[in-house]
Amino acid sequence: MIDRSRRLRTTPLLRGMVRETRMSPQSLILPLFLQEGEKICSPIPSLPGHFHYSPDEVSRGIEEALRHGVNKFLLFGLPASKDPEGSGAYAEDGIVQQGLRAIRQKYGKEVYLITDVCMCEYTSHGHCGILCGETVDNDKTLPYLSRTALSHVQAGADMVAPSDMMDGRVAAIRQLLDENGFENTPILSYAVKYASSFYGPFRDAAGSAPSFGDRKSYQMDCHNVREALKEAMQDTREGADLLMVKPALSYLDVIRAVKENTHLPLAAYSVSGEYAMIKAAAQAGLIDEYGVMCESAVSIFRAGADILITYYANELADAIMKGDIG
Ligand code: PBG
Repeated sequence: MIDRSRRLRTTPLLRGMVRETRMSPQSLILPLFLQEGEKICSPIPSLPGHFHYSPDEVSRGIEEALRHGVNKFLLFGLPASKDPEGSGAYAEDGIVQQGLRAIRQKYGKEVYLITDVCMCEYTSHGHCGILCGETVDNDKTLPYLSRTALSHVQAGADMVAPSDMMDGRVAAIRQLLDENGFENTPILSYAVKYASSFYGPFRDAAGSAPSFGDRKSYQMDCHNVREALKEAMQDTREGADLLMVKPALSYLDVIRAVKENTHLPLAAYSVSGEYAMIKAAAQAGLIDEYGVMCESAVSIFRAGADILITYYANELADAIMKGDIG
């Protein structure tokens, strides 16, 4: 027998040497939830191990991540009150804006801060834009999104990540940022975002479930992959600097297709439902949490992701440093 594939599997050192997929804590982004108020550090029931932080307490989450070697964060906000226009999203003293200032003041450029740009956490109806009757008005929503992005950048965001799925929003945001002298602030576009049941735990955590209907008229249909390429190419033309596919685990084929057909750095978002399923199955004694966490993350990078947004960022950074993966 000439070909013995097992020869390269004999020892951990050898297996580590011939790995095809490489990972680094540098490519991990941890989501953080900011909540209006003071002295709040309360566990999020739907996302075990994660917390709602008021701006004065968010350094707890940052410190913990830095200890694991994770220094990039995706910020979400829970405002004190909501209205039909989602004014908390672009208020100068909005919750994300307050959080950005607090973190920046304490950590300077030691941390990289990305903000989720969307209306759903701030609108009383829970949809991702401005309503006209029962539909979300695409064009009317664009100025609200660009205004939100600008206010985040003015408050200290390093990068903005629009997740609303309105058409034309990358171009609108790019234009307003450029007009205000922020031509070097990158846009990470949630270009390929599916209408997914995997967002359930997040919507509990962020209080952002739509009060009626669903998001299928603006987020993508899970049956489509050619449309994902169309979305990715459109956002590239509009000036996106990085692209995202979301969710991750059920969409590995989409990650691969977008990777092969575009040239921008590609992020994947392993969403709340993916995290919650692993946690729940582990809690029930059905799976080994560490093993499944590692294997899931490897598969997302193997599919072609360059960057991973994950609620397991801290634990994955440890697994990478130990050499168990990456
Ligand atoms: C905001 C937004 C959502 C997520 C990220 N940004 C929820 C949604 O689209 O309903 C989901 C993240 C997750 O499930 O972890 N639009």
